Amino acid sequence: MSPVAEAAYRTITVKPRAHGFGAEVTGADLSRPLDAATLGEVRTAWARHAVLSFPNQPLSLDELEAFTLQIGPFGDDPYVAPMPGHPNVLEVRREPDETLSPFGGAWHSDWSFQAAPPAATILRSEVIPPVGGDTLFCDAARAYDALDEATKAQLAPMKAVHSASRAYGPKSQYARELDQRSMPIIVSPEADKTCVHPLVRTHPVTGRKALFISPVYTVGIEGMAPNAAAPLLAGLYQHMTQDQFIYRHVWREGMVLIWDNRCTMHNAMGGYDGHRRVMHRTTVAGETPV
Ligand code: SIN
Repeated sequence: MSPVAEAAYRTITVKPRAHGFGAEVTGADLSRPLDAATLGEVRTAWARHAVLSFPNQPLSLDELEAFTLQIGPFGDDPYVAPMPGHPNVLEVRREPDETLSPFGGAWHSDWSFQAAPPAATILRSEVIPPVGGDTLFCDAARAYDALDEATKAQLAPMKAVHSASRAYGPKSQYARELDQRSMPIIVSPEADKTCVHPLVRTHPVTGRKALFISPVYTVGIEGMAPNAAAPLLAGLYQHMTQDQFIYRHVWREGMVLIWDNRCTMHNAMGGYDGHRRVMHRTTVAGETPV
């Protein structure tokens, strides 16, 4: 029997959200090293639910880094300059006078253009606006499960082409907006490179298959003409972003969220013009998608 399916919790309390996608976890103090049993249960809950929120965990940056390293080694974060003195922490910041879309404000899986994209992203809320600023998550595994068998067979051999070009390339949206954003975004010709991954990937822990594509970073399908790949991808995005596959995360200050980039997409919502929003973010290194 799979340990993910069978394990009971002894050290933490896990409140799953609708469809088991996302869960709230209490009973662990993330500011201290977790003992082996608690860390094991956090890993089990993460494998089961993909997006875990830990309320009331106002971690310092050092504590956020230490918690991240308990999950795994830091990932490589290109295209946003890290915080001074914290080379593995990015500050996701939007000031009250900013009017452009939020950073991360379109569906994506973090840094999927890398050869080994991050397994996890960890986000800790520092300043949360009184309205808006939620983060949407898409359950790309359940979306895959819901496809008909003919579509699954059609997608099985396909490889998706990923690139950071639309976000961080010299002709990208961020390139045009750099002087209007408070975040230290880095635009580079490096972003125009491409990397190919299976369009359907298998999760290394759960063995579940998930659609591994996103409108921000997937720029085509290997060997397929753009005018054939574009409608296929558009149809898949429409399928994936149906309400039944979405969890809307509402933030409180001092909350820690960890999500699994291997089986989810996410999308940062706006709706808080006139208010500040500040988050601190780390990533955990992942593996080559298969
Ligand atoms: C991100 O895509 O990392 C940002 C998510 C958020 O700010 O809610």
